[in-house]
Amino acid sequence: MASVDLYEAMSTLRAVRRLRPDPIPNDVLRRVLQAATWAPSGGNRQAWRVIAVKDPVRKQRLGELYKKVAAPFIQSYTARFATLPEAERVKGEKMIRSGLYLAEHFGEAPALCIFCFHPDGLAVTDADLDRVSVVGGGSIYPAVQNLLLACRAEGLGCTLTTLLCKAEPEVRELLKIPQPWGTAAAIPIGYPQFRGHGPISRRAVEEMAFVDSWEQPFA
Ligand SMILES: Cc1cc2nc3c(=O)[nH]c(=O)nc-3n(C[C@H](O)[C@H](O)[C@H](O)COP(=O)(O)O)c2cc1C
Repeated sequence: MASVDLYEAMSTLRAVRRLRPDPIPNDVLRRVLQAATWAPSGGNRQAWRVIAVKDPVRKQRLGELYKKVAAPFIQSYTARFATLPEAERVKGEKMIRSGLYLAEHFGEAPALCIFCFHPDGLAVTDADLDRVSVVGGGSIYPAVQNLLLACRAEGLGCTLTTLLCKAEPEVRELLKIPQPWGTAAAIPIGYPQFRGHGPISRRAVEEMAFVDSWEQPFA
């Protein structure tokens, strides 16, 4: 089994959107899917499932759907990045190029992992608050992150994507997802065309974390 230091894996788990079409051996696919199953969920209800789509016809259709829903997002990001200072604009434009590539080639990844969830099995403790509810996702996305980390360990490129949720009715029909299951993420996975995972750009811990109260940044 492939292995990599956990901190090394987390700090190099960037979005890898350029993938080779070479198939993923079944034992490797099984390991990354199993890693997803190890994730925690509210009350251990495990109200998520994942469909690893390998069939070229279904992948092609998912690719068409992804391209359609991605187009307006890519346009709006392009417009937003154009107004940023030079250094940020250059980074943003790189992401756009990578996003555009994915939109054109989504269906060519050797496997598309479609994460589904059952709305009744999520422990949504913030449902009654007067703000957007996020807690339900906490019973799904740890599984997604486990899969991404396992891909990193196996040398597989991957990207967490959510745009395809916009085409959920079509995806449901194509993949025979029963009601009331919904879709939460679509992860294209495959061996990278180039270097694959590598350096990431994130805010410093001092900016993100506090101690004891919001008024005391971690130092
Ligand atoms: C919740 C979530 C949704 C995302 N959805 C998409 C998506 O639909 N398409 C895409 O190309 N990337 C998507 N991404 C990837 C982000 O764009 C990427 O993680 C971010 O820009 C940081 O890039 P890096 O990991 O390469 O540093 C998503 C990431 C997250 C966490």
